[in-house]
Amino acid sequence: MALQFCNIKVQSPFFLAPMAAITALPFRLMCRQQGAGLVITEQINATQICRNSDPFTNNGFFTIKTIPDEKPVGVQLFGTDKQEFARAVEIVGKDFDLVNINCGCPSHKEVSIGAGAALLREPQKIAGIVEAIKGVTDRPVTVKMRLGWSGNNSVKIAKLLERAGCDAIMLHGRSGEQKYTGKADWGSIKRVVEAVSIPVVANGDVKCGRDAEEILGQTGARFGMVGRAAMANPFIFREINEWIGRGVEWKPTPAEKVGGFFDYLAICERLEMVKLTDLKIKAVQFTKGIDFTKPTRVKLQGAKSIDGIRDALGDLRDSMERN
Ligand SMILES: Cc1cc2nc3c(=O)[nH]c(=O)nc-3n(C[C@H](O)[C@H](O)[C@H](O)COP(=O)(O)O)c2cc1C
Repeated sequence: MALQFCNIKVQSPFFLAPMAAITALPFRLMCRQQGAGLVITEQINATQICRNSDPFTNNGFFTIKTIPDEKPVGVQLFGTDKQEFARAVEIVGKDFDLVNINCGCPSHKEVSIGAGAALLREPQKIAGIVEAIKGVTDRPVTVKMRLGWSGNNSVKIAKLLERAGCDAIMLHGRSGEQKYTGKADWGSIKRVVEAVSIPVVANGDVKCGRDAEEILGQTGARFGMVGRAAMANPFIFREINEWIGRGVEWKPTPAEKVGGFFDYLAICERLEMVKLTDLKIKAVQFTKGIDFTKPTRVKLQGAKSIDGIRDALGDLRDSMERN
């Protein structure tokens, strides 16, 4: 299923949402392999890029590095100063297919400096950032936002951004103040879809293939985005694609979940991005719902090396093959 999102060819209408400390390169690759149409880096501080083109230099795991295999991939920036955004895009933008401005993060670190969702209190400022970035790149410039800071002024903001040259809006159906409470308001996303002619990517609370179909149906959006549900289950993209593409209800088998961990490990090894704590988290998350025998669970929880994790999940795989 080849679709066009902005000027980018995507194989699926469902994208991986940017998630700080989650959407590092190995995880993005895994999600692309499982069928995500587009992936986006975690948020990266535009000011820090201006000072150092890889602001994560001291941390080989979270890095601005990208590789051709993960394309199409977007880079998400956060900040407040339009000149810094533009400069950051001049430095790193050419490596990515799309630029995304974070106007959705409600956490204290961003909001206290007026960045992330706090920018929704100053829509003109976001428009200025879009214009400044458009002036230095030919890549699509997109905004990831919430419905508003405290209330809902999403239609007004979206129209303003469209006039400023924004190429697409990724819209999480909650306000900044709501953080992650309550339910995402898909009806409000629909009103934005109807108000602008640029693509709107509908986001919030998609947890399975049926949700994916419903969010597109209820909002009229042609694209959707998955965050939290992908964290423990990168297979969700395959599940969504099977459901919306072929009407097939697909879920990974326990053996496929374990296999998914070994695929992830192989990606990390190939990229030389192996990190014990990350692998342990992924081993537990990817195999959620599998009936572990107690000795295997104890072995996994107590693993102090990559080989320890490999052994524990190898045991699990062997026991599945025997049964
Ligand atoms: C751990 C975590 C980190 C996140 N980091 C970012 C981020 O860096 N940039 C951003 O725009 N949104 C971030 N988000 C928000 C997600 O991109 C997404 O909009 C939100 O989780 C709603 O989608 P969901 O219901 O599919 O999870 C983050 C969410 C989570 C749970």
